[in-house]
Amino acid sequence: MFDLTSYLETRRARIESALENYLAGGGQRWTPRIQAAMGYCLLSGGKRLRPALCLAAAEAVRGRADDVMPAACAIEMIHTYSLIHDDLPAMDNDDFRRGRATCHIAFGEAVAVLTGDALLTLAFEVLADPRNFHGRNDLSAERWIDAIGQIAAASGYRGMIEGQARDIAFEGRAIGLDQLKEMHALKTGKLIQAAVCCGAMLGGGSGESIRHLAVYGENIGLAFQVVDDLLNVQGDPGKLGKAVGTDATRGKTTYPSLIGTHDSRAYAAHLIDNALKALAVFDKNADPLRAMARYVLERQR
Ligand code: IPE
Ligand code: IPE
Ligand code: MG
Ligand code: MG
Repeated sequence: MFDLTSYLETRRARIESALENYLAGGGQRWTPRIQAAMGYCLLSGGKRLRPALCLAAAEAVRGRADDVMPAACAIEMIHTYSLIHDDLPAMDNDDFRRGRATCHIAFGEAVAVLTGDALLTLAFEVLADPRNFHGRNDLSAERWIDAIGQIAAASGYRGMIEGQARDIAFEGRAIGLDQLKEMHALKTGKLIQAAVCCGAMLGGGSGESIRHLAVYGENIGLAFQVVDDLLNVQGDPGKLGKAVGTDATRGKTTYPSLIGTHDSRAYAAHLIDNALKALAVFDKNADPLRAMARYVLERQR
């Protein structure tokens, strides 16, 4: 029986030590305040689901997790930047994240904006490092460039940024299920899908396997945000490390507000079912991805 807890624990430790190395790599000379805030946010106990998915997707196509670690770390940096900006007073105005004060509460708004910018740009510095594909074949260099483009697109104005812009624009407005689904797929789904697809691509997966994993990623990405909405209603702030009840206070339309908690959970379960079906062609090397899909549905934090 596959043990997800110990799998995630070993992956988390490897990811965090790689993230620490990337932060230490800048030396101590420059802008110590920004470096301190980057460390505070990046090394502060996130679940590391996106980088773990990236590594697991590489494993599913029999690639080596170590080869894709720079991409996994870059995606976690982009995700962390998105949380710092998401929490700003101009956006969700949250003061609690990952079990501690949000970046702007701890360091001030100007530093929080710059820390987000610094993590986003460091992600692309890490991705573009020639050592990622040095000494490997041309195909892998080509795949790295492809992956960098996919990560940029998923994070940018056709992906997460557009989703975040809609999230803010829709506050206090009545929107329908189609609009909600599209917003969730953009703000959260795209980066999760990119983590999976890039892991498979950089792990040397075939076009066909990447297409199946794209379906998997799309479904768990959307399910992840549906469950985030549910946890904002039903979750325990102590476990989550962030406040609950905030979506309703801010007039956000969410799955629970639109279709109720029961149907929201059933919808998330349906999406996870779709994700598992997309893995049908894979062997036991995809067991971590299977277990992570179930975890997305059952998670309490
Ligand atoms: C929270 O993401 C924000 C969403 C996109 C829903 P996570 O729940 O993955 O946050 P961390 O990384 O574990 O803190
Ligand atoms: C976060 O969405 C999405 C991104 C940061 C891109 P939410 O605003 O719903 O997530 P939480 O609940 O603050 O983590
Ligand atoms: Mg938000
Ligand atoms: Mg938020």
